[in-house]
Amino acid sequence: MSVPTASSFVPGLEGVVAAQTRLSSVDGLAGELIIAGFPLERLASNATFEETVYLLWHDALPNVAQLDDFRQELAVDRSLIPATLDLLKAAAAQKVDAMDALRMAASTLSLRVPGEQAANLSHEEANKRDARILVAQFPTIVAAYWRLTEGNDPIEPRGDLSHAANYLYMLFGAIPSAERTRGMETYLNTVVDHGLNASTFAARVIIATQSDMISAIVGAVGALKGPLHGGAPGPALDMVFEIGDASRAETVLREKIERGERLMGFGHRVYKVRDPRADVLAAASERLYRADGDMALYNLSREVEKTALALLEEYKPGRNLKTNVEFYTALLLHGLGLPTPLFTSTFAISRVAGWTAHCFEQQQAGRLIRPQSEYIGVKDRHWLSVDQR
Ligand SMILES: CC(C)(COP(=O)(O)OP(=O)(O)OC[C@H]1O[C@@H](n2cnc3c(N)ncnc32)[C@H](O)[C@@H]1OP(=O)(O)O)[C@@H](O)C(=O)NCCC(=O)NCCS
Repeated sequence: MSVPTASSFVPGLEGVVAAQTRLSSVDGLAGELIIAGFPLERLASNATFEETVYLLWHDALPNVAQLDDFRQELAVDRSLIPATLDLLKAAAAQKVDAMDALRMAASTLSLRVPGEQAANLSHEEANKRDARILVAQFPTIVAAYWRLTEGNDPIEPRGDLSHAANYLYMLFGAIPSAERTRGMETYLNTVVDHGLNASTFAARVIIATQSDMISAIVGAVGALKGPLHGGAPGPALDMVFEIGDASRAETVLREKIERGERLMGFGHRVYKVRDPRADVLAAASERLYRADGDMALYNLSREVEKTALALLEEYKPGRNLKTNVEFYTALLLHGLGLPTPLFTSTFAISRVAGWTAHCFEQQQAGRLIRPQSEYIGVKDRHWLSVDQR
């Protein structure tokens, strides 16, 4: 075993390669994202979310019969059990954050199924079953929780609708149009996986201990909740609303930068060119707002983006601060009628497919993830009994 030296400490593990994956490739300099072999642009606006999940889990697209079976397998597991619903009601009474509600409700999924021994399943088979239940249940949990916080009854899921359409149906109680369903499918496909991001890493660390799938995903939800990971699209939309009119964009944004504020929806740790997910979501937003017949917010966002990019180049030359995924996530999800407190949990509805796929990969790798730490404390303390301190 190699013994680390002080110089091998890498804060934040930046640049450290800690997994091999066939699930996604993020090239921050080329601005390229590949999802299981497909350039994002090719997959996102063509696939249904069920096809994308199947692709991640099986490393191949399903044929007609496989897709039909898979859609049904997911659809039968959509309804909440009473224990999950009771928990969501208790959470809604206290108005807890939607991500906390999702994390707690995800834990109740262990009550839904017999343990692996009772069901006579191997550990791997139980994890596969639980991955399917997690993906199937996340939209129902998020939609039910939102309705409860608004004082409305949850809406029962429908097995005859696609994953994306059923989510919108459970939120608003109406079958969504083809355009709205396509908008949600495109969003879910776009954010389904993104290399070894923090929540995916958390899930892999947990499953690598031979813990179970539900524990791994509960940990991942906790990681995604943090504002440095999944929490930025709300503020990006607030910024556009604050500007309100394109003629004010330069003044408002200049003031923000001069006050030292960050422009939300711009800049990225990995992408030094435009985040490819921003383009896909911008195109999906344009289609959606055009179909709705009101392009005002879309056009304003485009103007805000143009002005922000010019000002960031002026004030932070050479920093390569470009539009990131959050800017157009906000516009698209708002156009689909989602309230901002649901943006991060809707992200989780997609990313749970990536997390579970990474867990399968990590199980295959079969290696405990156990880095080392560098001790920087003192080494020779003298013991004083409590009355001498
Ligand atoms: C995403 C983010 C955290 C990445 O940050 P990072 O790679 O750590 O970049 P740094 O914090 O090192 O910033 C580098 C420089 O660019 C500036 N900068 C970075 N993002 C900026 C932004 N959105 N607006 C204005 N200035 C920004 C920093 O102030 C810093 O300037 P300085 O060197 O003059 O102090 C950062 O760009 C950010 O805060 N963006 C806004 C929030 C957001 O959109 N988050 C969603 C990410 S998907």
